[in-house]
Amino acid sequence: MRQVRGAHAASGAYNLHAADEGPAVRSSVAAADATFRKIVARAAARFRSAGRGPYYFARGKLSGDPVFAALLRDGRIAAGARIVDVGCGLGVLAALLVAAEECEARAASEWPAGWPPAPRRWTLHGFDLRERAIANAQRALTDVADRVELAVADMRTAALPQCDLLFMLDVAHYIDRDAQRALFRRAEEALVPGGTLLIRVGDALPGVRFYLTMIGDWVTILARGTPWPRLHFRSVAEWIALLQDTGFVVSSQPMSQGTPFANVLLIAHKPRVAQPLAVAFESG
Ligand SMILES: C[S@@+](CC[C@H](N)C(=O)[O-])C[C@H]1O[C@@H](n2cnc3c(N)ncnc32)[C@H](O)[C@@H]1O
Repeated sequence: MRQVRGAHAASGAYNLHAADEGPAVRSSVAAADATFRKIVARAAARFRSAGRGPYYFARGKLSGDPVFAALLRDGRIAAGARIVDVGCGLGVLAALLVAAEECEARAASEWPAGWPPAPRRWTLHGFDLRERAIANAQRALTDVADRVELAVADMRTAALPQCDLLFMLDVAHYIDRDAQRALFRRAEEALVPGGTLLIRVGDALPGVRFYLTMIGDWVTILARGTPWPRLHFRSVAEWIALLQDTGFVVSSQPMSQGTPFANVLLIAHKPRVAQPLAVAFESG
């Protein structure tokens, strides 16, 4: 039996609106919001050549989904990180990282005050099942092709290169439960000791928020016009148990602020030193 480790520790969430804070905090959050919107505008502009759809999708996704601001604000991406983005879709994460680096380098006023430095010298390997999304992503990021490599591949079978940071944002529920388990195992093997898997999931507990999360998925799938997939949700407790069983030490952060969804970011660390297996002692 594997030793149970890790904790379901809900850490402080990135509060986009800071409605419950005092005036000073509210105004610094507003300033960070305004500066972040400029970074988003720069990232989204990359998709103009792909047409109105990809451009507005990138702009809306990066500004409306709290996970992207939180990744930068919480300093989740270290300088020099080798990143793998599983199910990268249109490549908005890579576009955001490029824009963040450019904005911070241009002027202090273009980077939110109080945020850690923008990640630098990272490389990113992203892949997705949809050929059109990857073609648009490659066009949008062609000037950084030396550090952003994008490909069409299936997460059930794709080789995962050795990496420091692995993203699975809203993708793991697209494959069945056995495939999820196998993917996590391959992710654990690909990560260096001390590396991190950042996975955003919907919490499949009965309730309005989870219903709206599913509806959000259906609307996105309809808008893409891709074949209707069967989705395979789990509760957050089940996702955490599966990650722990794979060898990760897991904490969680609510990640739905400003949206009606039931989304959670799971931060799954691969321990630097292999954890000993639990030994059961019997008395008597
Ligand atoms: C909700 S989108 C998330 C996209 C991206 N991670 C983001 O946050 O913008 C889910 C993505 O998973 C991709 N996907 C679904 N099944 C896949 C598979 N078996 N292998 C690779 N990508 C897959 C879809 O094409 C889609 O781009």
